[in-house]
Amino acid sequence: MNRWLGRGINFGNALDAWGDGPELPLDERYFDEVAEAGFDTVRLPVRWSAHARAAPPYAIDPAFFRRVDAGVGAALDRGLRVVVNVHHYHELCAAPEAHLPRFLALWRQIAARYAGHSGRLCFELLNEPRGRLTAVRWNAVLAEALAVVRAADPGRTVLIGPAEMNGLGALPALEVPGDGNLIATIHYYAPFEFTHQGAGWVEGAERWLGRTWGGTADETAVRDDLEKVAAWGREQRLPLFLGEFGAFSGADMPSRTRWTAFVRAEAERLGMSWAYWEFGTDFGAFDLESATWREPLRRALLGDREPAAEIRQ
Ligand code: BGC
Repeated sequence: MNRWLGRGINFGNALDAWGDGPELPLDERYFDEVAEAGFDTVRLPVRWSAHARAAPPYAIDPAFFRRVDAGVGAALDRGLRVVVNVHHYHELCAAPEAHLPRFLALWRQIAARYAGHSGRLCFELLNEPRGRLTAVRWNAVLAEALAVVRAADPGRTVLIGPAEMNGLGALPALEVPGDGNLIATIHYYAPFEFTHQGAGWVEGAERWLGRTWGGTADETAVRDDLEKVAAWGREQRLPLFLGEFGAFSGADMPSRTRWTAFVRAEAERLGMSWAYWEFGTDFGAFDLESATWREPLRRALLGDREPAAEIRQ
């Protein structure tokens, strides 16, 4: 497997929060829980666009920057890898030309800020490009953003994912820039009617409630999908990171557990690192209220494995 990022978990709904759903407080003890459970990586989604000026030079709010610093520092201090991205920049997806200068200015500031940091910090250029940020436009935008990062931080590992919400269908259209330090990332939520049943932000999702997952046909569908991803990665000679996968709490726990364990095991068999979506809110592997892991999900992700001391530094 791609041992650099190994096994990870998303700290979703913390620095990417919308303000209208459950939120994860970015508490130090959650980083302890993740490190002690044996995860290697935290993916830290960040909604920079909600905390930066609308006009040049598009300065990021200093207090917000310090919150991100604290999250990055908490992960690195515990020997974890940490992936920082640009999350929920929907205005960029709706109007790519208008927002491109601001997007690049965000990366100029982020890359400069973290240039001296440990190599265990990685950047992911944009979560789930979509809408008017079509595959063709995204190829151009990502090349520009990568050049901005490289100007400040030539050695940093950078993650790039395909258009159409990082779905595997858009992988063939992704143009990989010539650069020796990239990891490709995709998100996997199929079948969507299973993983998103009852999700309030998906129209019609309450109609899918009660859908279960398991059995040979369901497993074969997942295996076929992930094998396509792995084949693309081999062709491109790129390591792969399954940066989001998970099933919303609207599904029954036995099905969620089966799906999570199967996707995770297939990803590992195919040499991919991964990060579960997500730690402590509506897909949560960890129950904030009781401050304990939801054991079936923890086990689906990590089995009984000991912490990966061999890849810590
Ligand atoms: C979004 C979350 C959402 C999750 C699953 C993520 O990329 O940021 O808001 O809960 O996907 O749909």
